[in-house]
Amino acid sequence: MSQVEILEVAPRDGFQAVKPFIPTETKIALIEQLAACGFKRLEIGSFVSPKAIPQLADTGEILRRARLPKGLRIQVLVPNAKGLEMALAAGVREIIWVISVSESHNRANVNRSVDESFGAFEAAWAGLGRDKPKLRLALSTCFDCPWEGRVPEASVIRLVERTIAAAPEVEIAICDTTGRASPDHVGSLFGRLMPRYPSAGVTFAYHGHDTYGLGVANALEAYRQGVRTIDGAAGGLGGCPFAPGAAGNTASEDLVFAFEHMGIATGIDFGKLLKAADAVSRVAPEQAGGKVRIVPRQRALAGFGAATHGVGA
Ligand code: COA
Ligand code: ZN
Repeated sequence: MSQVEILEVAPRDGFQAVKPFIPTETKIALIEQLAACGFKRLEIGSFVSPKAIPQLADTGEILRRARLPKGLRIQVLVPNAKGLEMALAAGVREIIWVISVSESHNRANVNRSVDESFGAFEAAWAGLGRDKPKLRLALSTCFDCPWEGRVPEASVIRLVERTIAAAPEVEIAICDTTGRASPDHVGSLFGRLMPRYPSAGVTFAYHGHDTYGLGVANALEAYRQGVRTIDGAAGGLGGCPFAPGAAGNTASEDLVFAFEHMGIATGIDFGKLLKAADAVSRVAPEQAGGKVRIVPRQRALAGFGAATHGVGA
């Protein structure tokens, strides 16, 4: 059976978009509930300036206190060397280093030029010597920038090249930060990227937002181009506070439904995920999104594939 990995990012991308502070206990309970759904990887939080993202200032405490299944891969996002240092000190072995493709978004997000951010990444990564954690380089605004509009594919490819030169063992997340990508754009970019880097050390992931309702369609197109890791957030929460006009991540439960319905296994317990997504959405109901949670639950849980199309199913 074909497979895809859905990477759950609600505890980072989802929670960071919520203004009122979510109590640490609530975050831990939701993370533990999500971990029990069968995800292989969770993006748990970030080590960023608490002035920039006050909501995630308790990431260290969460890492210490959450009781998570053995073997679950835990990732945290960092924007600079200080974040990397803090993540490593907290025992994290999987790092997401975020840099935007567009100058304006990188400046708004991390107060640096793209070149400065890349220079800092290259120096910090080389400085780690041989004992490196696993790396995901998250390239934000690969399709659209709130200030600069459509982002040239050549700019993305240039930064992919620079990433691989500094870190030949890397997962590169191609991010539609604003949710303005369309399937033909996703297909065009991955159509150029996927055949270009056949090295086993370089893999690609797709991180999308559902601002215009194209989240699932874009994810399916990424899959069609060969991408096998797709990010989603339970309950459709999410969004970069420094990307005006961006709504939540594509809902994990919508992605799981779409893939499983097409016979592509996710390894996720859909019933448990729907409950977890309901719970996540309760932290900010007005910001939550996604479709399948709204479907009468019995219908949503009736199974996947052609056999379940009958009215009685
Ligand atoms: N974690 C915690 N604190 C950090 C930090 C980190 N990774 N990096 C810097 N700081 C602290 C510094 O220690 C300094 O503290 P002080 O004022 O007490 O001395 C302060 O932040 C300013 O440091 P500076 O390097 O000048 O940062 P800046 O003001 O230029 O901001 C970032 C740069 C990257 C720290 C900030 O823009 C940021 O955290 N952005 C993250 C945005 C984000 O998470 N977006 C959503 C995900 S895409
Ligand atoms: Zn995002």
